[in-house]
Amino acid sequence: MCGIVGYLGKGNAKSIVLEGLKRLEYRGYDSAGLSLLDEKQNQFNIYKEKGRIAQLEKIIDLNDARVAIGHTRWATHGRVTKENAHPHQSNNGRFIVVHNGVIDNYKSLMKTYLPDTVFHSETDTEVIVNLIELFAVKKTPANAILEVLKLLEGSYALLVIDINTPETIYAAKHKSPLLLGKSDKGIVIGSDMMALVNTADNYLALDDETFLRITPKNFTLYNLEGEVLPYTMSLLDLDDFSSEKGEFEHFMLKEIHEQPAVLRRIISKYYNDTDIHIDKILLEKIKAHDSIHILAAGTSMHAGLIAKDLLESLANIPTQVHIASEFAYQQPLLKGKPYFILISQSGETADLRACLVNLKKEKYQTLTVTNVRTSTLAREADDYMEIYAGPEIAVASTKAYTAQIAVLATLAYALSDQSFDLKRELSEIAQAMEHFLDKKDQYKDLVAATLTKRNCFYIGRGLDYYVCLEAALKLKEISYIQTEGFAAGELKHGTIALIEEDTPVIAIISNRKTADNTRSNLNEVKSRGAKTLTITTESLKETDDQIVLDDVNPSLSPLLTVIPTQLIAYYAALIRGHDIDKPRNLAKSVTVE
Ligand code: G6P
Repeated sequence: MCGIVGYLGKGNAKSIVLEGLKRLEYRGYDSAGLSLLDEKQNQFNIYKEKGRIAQLEKIIDLNDARVAIGHTRWATHGRVTKENAHPHQSNNGRFIVVHNGVIDNYKSLMKTYLPDTVFHSETDTEVIVNLIELFAVKKTPANAILEVLKLLEGSYALLVIDINTPETIYAAKHKSPLLLGKSDKGIVIGSDMMALVNTADNYLALDDETFLRITPKNFTLYNLEGEVLPYTMSLLDLDDFSSEKGEFEHFMLKEIHEQPAVLRRIISKYYNDTDIHIDKILLEKIKAHDSIHILAAGTSMHAGLIAKDLLESLANIPTQVHIASEFAYQQPLLKGKPYFILISQSGETADLRACLVNLKKEKYQTLTVTNVRTSTLAREADDYMEIYAGPEIAVASTKAYTAQIAVLATLAYALSDQSFDLKRELSEIAQAMEHFLDKKDQYKDLVAATLTKRNCFYIGRGLDYYVCLEAALKLKEISYIQTEGFAAGELKHGTIALIEEDTPVIAIISNRKTADNTRSNLNEVKSRGAKTLTITTESLKETDDQIVLDDVNPSLSPLLTVIPTQLIAYYAALIRGHDIDKPRNLAKSVTVE
């Protein structure tokens, strides 16, 4: 959600920033902009466009530059218009700003400090840039920015240019992610690691309430009091961030196919012949608590539901799952000694960050399970576990979901006194995934024939129900078909009223204990005209079942049953001609609450 990239140095700043912004496209955006130093004219040009970066590129009439800042915007304050797109410039033209985040008190700042200023956009950002201009009348630019930062309530990752010192970029960070990368050619700064790839050798993930003064060769890190802070750069591991589509038409399809490899990678990282590689101290720490609370959003929350089942059934620890945006402002009554697990692919979700800030204040122990070890939530929780899914570019999450489940299953197992061979079970699932994906082409027509309406239902019981929730989310995210995941037995208590001729109902049946009941529910909708599709396993299959998967350990079945549902969503979106990797209105990394 929103992306920032800035560069100064010997490289071509225009192409570095545009390339960086393209790498951030996956986060989701609806307009883009760029400011470049035109050295001949000794001025900064500003270019903005609604829509994709490709549109923006077309209007840029400068070939090269040594300084540039760029931005992709996901509208929060004000509509998607060229005027609202960043960069924003102060009214006398001296300062240019790009901003991620939300300034909660921008209206009161406007009233107090800028009552006569004419604004050209509906954004909170324009208030920031005009405040800097106001304070810079009497102060150095750095001190003016610091003074503004102290007034801001909310979140920001900010890049500021003062046209009087064109070879300096000022940057600041609070609650919105910002990383600085360095090579002997120059300095790049961006809202996630993807923006630094190919440009930096070392990086620094900035802490909250920090301020930077960056020149082509160096930078100084300050706190908001203007005191210089020490820092240590880390080596940027390029291998971890290679991300090309390769032979696949879409990142989502590529990422669906990567799941068996990701499972094997998790096995190689967490298991050896006899042991599981999870820090014993961490395990003891968790065991010293009497309940677990999982906090997450979206797909990660759905992975959390499966994890709850595993933590309770394997490790015998009572576990609850909470929607992060709810928990942040309506914390339930916590008794005994609760432990907190935050699940987040990106490690940047603002709703979770809000929870973490509170939990830390209350001195609770926290563990983040994430795909990005450099992320805010990984850095700020007491512990973190990596899911090793590799970069997930498609907005609709697929491989992160299965990776989260596999890692949390490993954790649950390590916390238990069970002695079955989980490593073998996981590798069998990887094989079963491949077995299904080998036959994937045959399902495109099935999807076309089944999903003919503007709504759809997924039904299942137990773990299958949890997978239905994720399956429904995936389908609505990219095909825009209104889909609900339903507990099969609950359908008849109201929702069955929505079933009419040809309403698609997809059942997931992977558990012997509940298979017959779910089949009865399927018959109930069928006899009311529904068009049904069944996803089941070899040992539970019946004659007309359309998608039959290999048998795997039923407690891990979501790792497999989710794969056809990801493909159903993919094909449904493909058939409808949608932008599969960048669905409308969605952002990959939701950095505002
Ligand atoms: C956004 C994404 C979802 C994701 C959710 C949580 O809404 O579009 O795909 O599941 O955020 O993201 P996280 O990075 O915390 O797992």
